[in-house]
This record gives sequence, structure tokens and C-alpha cells, in this order.
Amino acid sequence: MSGFPGGDIMRLIIEDDFKKLSKRAAKIIANAIIKKPDLVLGLATGSTPLGTYKELIKMYNKENLDFSQVVTFNLDEYYNISQDDKNSYNYYMHENLFKHINIKEENINIPKGNVKEIKDYCKEYDKKIKKCGGIDLQLLGIGNNGHIGFNEPDKELNLRTHLTKLTKSTIEANARFFNSIKEVPDRAITMGLSSIMNSKKILLLASGKNKTNIIEELLTKDKATTEIPASALLMHSNLTVILDEDAACNYKKRMKKGEKDEIIN
Ligand code: F6R
Repeated sequence: MSGFPGGDIMRLIIEDDFKKLSKRAAKIIANAIIKKPDLVLGLATGSTPLGTYKELIKMYNKENLDFSQVVTFNLDEYYNISQDDKNSYNYYMHENLFKHINIKEENINIPKGNVKEIKDYCKEYDKKIKKCGGIDLQLLGIGNNGHIGFNEPDKELNLRTHLTKLTKSTIEANARFFNSIKEVPDRAITMGLSSIMNSKKILLLASGKNKTNIIEELLTKDKATTEIPASALLMHSNLTVILDEDAACNYKKRMKKGEKDEIIN
């Protein structure tokens, strides 16, 4: 028996540090692109994927990793922010990945944070994912509160792409990217749980001590709850979780106390 929920279907990898985690994640993405050059790739922002994006850029430069047919869909975007705003996820993605590789602009999809007809726009975003054949590989980070995308803990979770209110804890966590907490948008557009869960493969990354509590909770509770949106991932049939030692710390302590695990190094 494995020591974590979903253990039969989840692959858990623990790397020494952020650099190794990033290399491992980039390798998984690169292999998927090599296998399917027109991969539909779901992408995330925040601190966690930054190392992965750096590694992918290296592979583009040194190993001719070809993004020319890759189609991307980003998880989320702040609401009421223009695409060229330096705090937008559109800006982040171009700065940290897209402008350094040979992806075609028309193959990049990031929710627009400043549209008027938001409901129609969200529907169109989901439709476009479907039209492209669905997401082949979705890269995810996890919030300290267990959010994925901007699906925040709640009594109910939205299934489709939607406009959502950010929780106080997310606003506080993201304030580090802004001049002051007052500047952090309080709403965002995000892919919903079903849009994420419909991805053929999911790659969840967590790095650092500040993620160790949520990772422990996620991997040791044998339950799915809307209070930890990431727990839905445990029901996915093709989930890979990559942690660094800091993020895995509490979980490993629990495992040492007796439960057997299936950690792959
Ligand atoms: C970002 C996103 C968020 C982040 C999460 C973790 O597109 O969807 O769910 O993945 O907030 O953020 P970091 O990596 O900054 O700890």
C-alpha cells in the first residue's frame, strides 16, 4: 500500500532542491514536446515554474527543443489589468518564457484580464481548449492555501473558466510581486477545476518551506475537499508531483513515522 491518497496512480518525485526540481520538470515537458511536437501545454505563473522555464529556454538554445508547433493555454490572469501591465501574467509569460523561444504568438493563449463580456469570454476560452483537442500536459503550482490556478478554497468550486475573487491569503502571498499590497488585484480569471482535470497529464510542482504544510495536508489526507482545491488532483489518472526537500519535509517526517511511501528519486 502506498502512503498517500491516489498512490496507485500518482507519481511522486522528491528532488534535493529547486534547481533539480526545475530540471526534472523541464525534462518531462521537453520529452512530451519531442513525442508530440504540437503539444497542447497548460502553463502556470508565480515563482515555482520560473526555474522550469529557464531550463526550457536552455533546451531551446542548446538542444534545439522546438516550440514552433506547441500551443499553450495559461491557467489564469488578474482581472482588470491590461496585457502590457508589468504585473500581468501576459507580461510575465512573455518575459520569462515566450520571448526566448520559437513559439508562435498565435499559439499562445492567456486569459485576457480586461474584457467586458467576461462570461462569454470565459466560455470561449474553454471552447478553444476543447477545439485544440484538450490540454495534453498541465503544469501547476500550488497556493499555500491549496489553490490551483485561482480556484480558491470554498464550499463549492467552479468547473469552468470563470471570474473569481482572490482570498486574503492569496492577495498577501502575491503582494511580493507588487509595490504594495493595495496594488494586488482582488479578482482574477481562472480555468476551473474541470478545465484542469480534463488535462491528459498533470505536473504539480511545489518548492520551499512555505509549501510544506499544504503538501503534508494534501498527501496525507485520504480525502478530496473543496477546502483544498488541489486535492481534486489526487483523483486524476495521470498525476506527477515534484517536490523539493523543503516542500517535502513535513510529509517525509510523517512517512518516517511508519507509513510506507513510494518516493522516486
Ligand atoms: C499561477 C497560479 C497559482 C500559483 C500558486 C503558487 O498561474 O495558477 O495557482 O501556481 O499561487 O504560486 P507560487 O509558485 O508563486 O508559489
